[in-house]
Amino acid sequence: MSGELYDYIEEERARFGEDLTILGHHYQEENVIRHTDLRGDSLELARRTSSVRSKYIVFCGVYFMAESSALLAAPAQRVYLPEPSAECSMALMSPASLLGEVLDALTRKGRKVIPLAYVNSTLAVKAVVGGRQGAVCTSANARRMLEWAWSQGEAVLFLPDKNLGRNTADLLGIPAEEQHILNLKDGLRRLDLEAAAQARLLLWPGFCSIHTRFHLRQIERVRAECPGARIVVHPECSPEVVAAADVSGSTSFIIRFVEELPDGATVAVGTEINLVERLAERHKGRLTVLPLVESACTHMAQTTEESLAAALRDLAACEREGRGSRFQVRIAEDLKNPAKAALERMLRVCA
Ligand code: 13P
Ligand code: SF4
Repeated sequence: MSGELYDYIEEERARFGEDLTILGHHYQEENVIRHTDLRGDSLELARRTSSVRSKYIVFCGVYFMAESSALLAAPAQRVYLPEPSAECSMALMSPASLLGEVLDALTRKGRKVIPLAYVNSTLAVKAVVGGRQGAVCTSANARRMLEWAWSQGEAVLFLPDKNLGRNTADLLGIPAEEQHILNLKDGLRRLDLEAAAQARLLLWPGFCSIHTRFHLRQIERVRAECPGARIVVHPECSPEVVAAADVSGSTSFIIRFVEELPDGATVAVGTEINLVERLAERHKGRLTVLPLVESACTHMAQTTEESLAAALRDLAACEREGRGSRFQVRIAEDLKNPAKAALERMLRVCA
């Protein structure tokens, strides 16, 4: 069956030719990633969308990524997500309406608080952020964007990932007393506005449940069992794990770091398992690449070779019948301009 699906997808790719580009995030499984024209981390994929010329873009990843792609696509282009229910759970941790209320509360006394949203957030959140002079960032440029955000206001509200926010602030030498994690367990009721007013960095209490599976004890085990092994982790891991690893960085950073290791090295990687397995395969015979622990993103895994084939089948039928596809990512008109402003601010600052 998998052979049939493989052939079907490749035939459709050949038939669509230049009208179709398939993009894929590095966390996609091998059966999916092998059909992509371009693969990358979220920053690379957002950037590349603007230079893709094809009529149709099929995005193998999670919803917020396809949304960013649809936002940056030309008006005549269409973006499709093979699994429309593939949502990143972290992106859902900061509802746009609550964000608006929190920003109102934090700025009520005239303080200028700049929101900086990790790209792992919904379109509605990006629109709130863009409408309040804020911007988007990714794990590859969080440091540069946090510096930019501080140059624009008195404090920064970083969301939704408290770990990426804390790890980036630690890199910039921001002391813990100047960082404050907002308590949003009960909406605004437990928000400590006095403590927030003392901090330069306000952190939304979101996290990635895939990267918070990495713990100090796994690092200690690698150090004990494989002396000399290097340890590299994604900055969505907790600050304790990042501090204990040798180095941390975005998906593209991790790929480069492993590529540049000398022959014979062993490296333990703390990120999504599909990427770790691909790195192990790519460097087989040259390096030993181990997962710090196996941690799979179930949201990324919703896109399969079957769902990619189904999306292409539907796209072909829609083209024949002149109708819209249920796989198409549609951008609400009222959110488009402010959300795009937030994304474009990032692309401009990090050009
Ligand atoms: P990157 O920005 O490194 O691609 O990471 C995206 C993501 O979802 C990490 O969990
Ligand atoms: Fe979201 Fe974490 Fe999955 Fe990345 S790994 S898509 S942040 S849930």
